[in-house]
Amino acid sequence: MYWGPRLETQDPLVRPQSVGRPFEQDDSPEEFAGWGGGLLAEPTLKITFPDGNRDLVLHFVSSQATAHGLTIVLKDIQRDVFVTLHYAMDAQTGILGRWAEIENRAQQPFVVEQAESAEWNLPRSSDYVLHYLTGRWGGEDQFRTRALQPGETVLESRRGFTGDEFAPWFAIAENDRVTERAGTVWFGSLAWSGSWRITVEQDPMQQVKIVGGFNPFDFGYKLDPGKTLETPVFYGGVAQHGFQEMSRLESAFQLRTILPQAPHPRLRPVLYNSWEATEFNFDEKTQEQIADKAASIGVERFVMDDGWFSTRVLDNAGLGDWYPNPQRFPKGLKPLIDHVHADGMDFGLWVEPEMVNENSDLYRKHPDWILHFEGRPRTQARAQFVLNLALPEVQEYILGFLDKLLRENDIAFLKWDANRNFSEPGWPQVPPDEEKKIWVKYGEGYYHVLSEIRRRFPKLEIESCSGGGGRVDLGVMHLTDEVWTSDNTDPFDRLSIQDGFTYAYTPSVMMDWVTDSPNWYNGRSTSLTYRFLSSMQGSLGVGADLNKWTSADFATAKDMIAGYKQIRGMVQQGVLYRLASPRDGSNFSATESVATDQRQAVVFAFLHSEQMQYPSPTVHLEGLKPETIYGVAALGGKLAKNTPERASGAFWMHRGVDFDLTGDYAAAAAVLTAE
Ligand code: GLA
Repeated sequence: MYWGPRLETQDPLVRPQSVGRPFEQDDSPEEFAGWGGGLLAEPTLKITFPDGNRDLVLHFVSSQATAHGLTIVLKDIQRDVFVTLHYAMDAQTGILGRWAEIENRAQQPFVVEQAESAEWNLPRSSDYVLHYLTGRWGGEDQFRTRALQPGETVLESRRGFTGDEFAPWFAIAENDRVTERAGTVWFGSLAWSGSWRITVEQDPMQQVKIVGGFNPFDFGYKLDPGKTLETPVFYGGVAQHGFQEMSRLESAFQLRTILPQAPHPRLRPVLYNSWEATEFNFDEKTQEQIADKAASIGVERFVMDDGWFSTRVLDNAGLGDWYPNPQRFPKGLKPLIDHVHADGMDFGLWVEPEMVNENSDLYRKHPDWILHFEGRPRTQARAQFVLNLALPEVQEYILGFLDKLLRENDIAFLKWDANRNFSEPGWPQVPPDEEKKIWVKYGEGYYHVLSEIRRRFPKLEIESCSGGGGRVDLGVMHLTDEVWTSDNTDPFDRLSIQDGFTYAYTPSVMMDWVTDSPNWYNGRSTSLTYRFLSSMQGSLGVGADLNKWTSADFATAKDMIAGYKQIRGMVQQGVLYRLASPRDGSNFSATESVATDQRQAVVFAFLHSEQMQYPSPTVHLEGLKPETIYGVAALGGKLAKNTPERASGAFWMHRGVDFDLTGDYAAAAAVLTAE
């Protein structure tokens, strides 16, 4: 009946105006619409019964208050199909989690062909604009906007994984009335790491609704008598003061309720990862040498990436055989881990548990453990196949090797990668009419393995990575501590990827490495300071080849990392202000993070290219206390000569701060501290 900012408890509940049109059924918004009766709009639940009947009309049965909200039970007007709608409200942010349980209380199985988590109806307007994140490998999370017109707009993944084509997230606002600082925004995020879909529909009478849940593409979940199917949680919220407030609500909500260490996630350590430096070419000695160098600049966690195990010296062999490469690590991983500990860092390791190379002992032994259709070709991607995590024996295998690895070695962190998507999603081990359950059962198997590993090793931290940023969603964020944003580590491209990311996700989980220049992805050259400042807007890592660094590079890195440790509390868990957008070829961009007590702030400013000696724009800060006096200091790069050493919050917000940015790819940052 209503979705918007908070009303008063005594306010009446008013049905949306129904527009009776000749020749058509009542089309007023429904809470959870079965496909049946006269429904013309997108359904939330579609079922085929064994007798061929496909008519489903859900009516209210009962409701009950719960600790955090409400459950509502619906039932078909004749058949024993029960649906329990769950509502869980986060009181501090007003973000509402909604999901549905579909239960078969009949005598016969039926097939669920579409199962959405929830339906959200917006106030009637013809003037909505949809904001969403789209991308691809190396170009994730690009923020896009399109006006809603009659018809459907579909954001989805059919890949079996969250995917990098779209983020399972939307924001809708009324045209021209929303900015970073003003306007009402309705937003939502789907917590599912398998194939998903969000459909935004504007019907001919200008009613806009959003449904989201399991992707109905190739969906067919046979539900036996007595069984239930539970949908993912679809979170939704409303911000009244523009995108900044939306991001603040989302970030606070994710930190306090979604992340595994919620409500008090520890700050992310500064990590070093050897992938870009060494790729597959390393051994114990060379890892130790690079670890010493990483420790010398203040790194807190050393992560060894792909190439440490079995016959994996290139990407075409060994995946699936998880024991240390005997030539590279003759005494196992312990000597290296001890060395890393002696350097004062903890140790992390790359794994890709869901995948297998054709050239591996695991595949030779269990060729039937991968997703495949009997007798059909098996498509490879990056020379690998996807193991079927719906199979209990595959779950056991993964749990078995991870358990052994983590029990025998002091490993603080896993980078959990998944470098390809589903193809030929067959599951021949089950009867044909059960096979399409793969879209649900794979995801459940993946979540089971992750949560079981966390249960057995409560101190372990995990990063979700999937060929770059292909597995980021509120479902996986509930079981992992950080996510890999993109394989594209070019610090300029990263500005817009990171900008998009922060519309949906907290910057605290956004991993950013400082890597080599020229960058491997696009050959762009940038200064080490620019690279650091770009990466310091999220969770900082270093991935450069330290063997090539000069002593000046080491000195810069040491300073920047020490500086980052001073500000990471506010970057990761403070309040973010996107002051100037890096999108769409913009020449200048800036972000600011403010500590929750408003006693400190950091501003990052980036110039693409200086033209005709124009000075870069003055940056007006936000979120400071107007009367408080703040001192300012540069953190990399230079402030303009006219900058006072101290001034009020009002001064920094209204007069602003000037940076001295010249040339191409110039960056500077300033820290403001209350006196
Ligand atoms: C993927 C990841 C990279 C790296 C390689 C290793 O591409 O995104 O960071 O781990 O795999 O093979």
